Amino acid sequence: MISIPSDIAIEAIQSRLTGRIIGRRLQVVAEIGSTNDAIMEAGRAGESEGLAILADRQTSGRGRRGRSWASLPGVGIWTSILLRPPVSPLQAPLLTLMAGLATAEAIASVARVEPLVKWPNDLLLDGRKVVGILTEMTTTGQRIGHVAIGIGINVHQRREDFPESVRETATSIDLAAGCRVERGEVAATLYDSLDRWYAAVCGDGTSVILQAARARSVTLGKPVTVDTGEEKWQGTALDLDEDGALLVVDTRGAIQRVLADDVSIR
Ligand code: BTN
Repeated sequence: MISIPSDIAIEAIQSRLTGRIIGRRLQVVAEIGSTNDAIMEAGRAGESEGLAILADRQTSGRGRRGRSWASLPGVGIWTSILLRPPVSPLQAPLLTLMAGLATAEAIASVARVEPLVKWPNDLLLDGRKVVGILTEMTTTGQRIGHVAIGIGINVHQRREDFPESVRETATSIDLAAGCRVERGEVAATLYDSLDRWYAAVCGDGTSVILQAARARSVTLGKPVTVDTGEEKWQGTALDLDEDGALLVVDTRGAIQRVLADDVSIR
């Protein structure tokens, strides 16, 4: 049996938690297919919200749009959290932004570096991707059933550890901060930070989330290319709307609402 490295031992993480919901029930595993798959399954089985699964290694780590997510052992935080938020499925971008803000704050507090949010699901340090977020959910009519917030944080990778396809565009906390942080501390700080930001989602905190997301955004005000999967079009990112969708003015001057497409900064 593969053992769990001591830096992410469950006691090391849970003893540091101060939040009410997130991570109070935590499973740490040495290896898993995808933590998002496991959380979606737990949601279907009726688990209550707050359950977090953290893996040392994922064998089928997934990113958005069916991309794979490199999840080597010993170098990252590969975690998913089960939520049952009282919001409409249309507000999915807001949940991803909330998770991004919580993760950015956790990294800032542990490593003294300030990640920026590249809408909707990336965090960047020095212009390179350090975090990817994958939000998946079930819906019934106008309501969300359950949500898996999947967060992948590159922590200890050196340049050569990244797959060649992302070597020029990815980074890790250690590389950007110039020191070695502790994975257990990053994980515990992340769950606490998510706990606080999730309270804003459940309360009346949409405007607080949007305000913070605007302040941390690397996308707003920039010329962007929007990739729908079927076509690409260009425009300038203007603002976020109340659901967290990106408002982009296209080349004809019309304002388009972007919900889930890939957006790259030109
Ligand atoms: C992306 O950038 O496209 C999103 C990457 C999300 C990766 C995380 S790692 C934990 C969770 N489990 C997965 O299979 N994916 C997410």
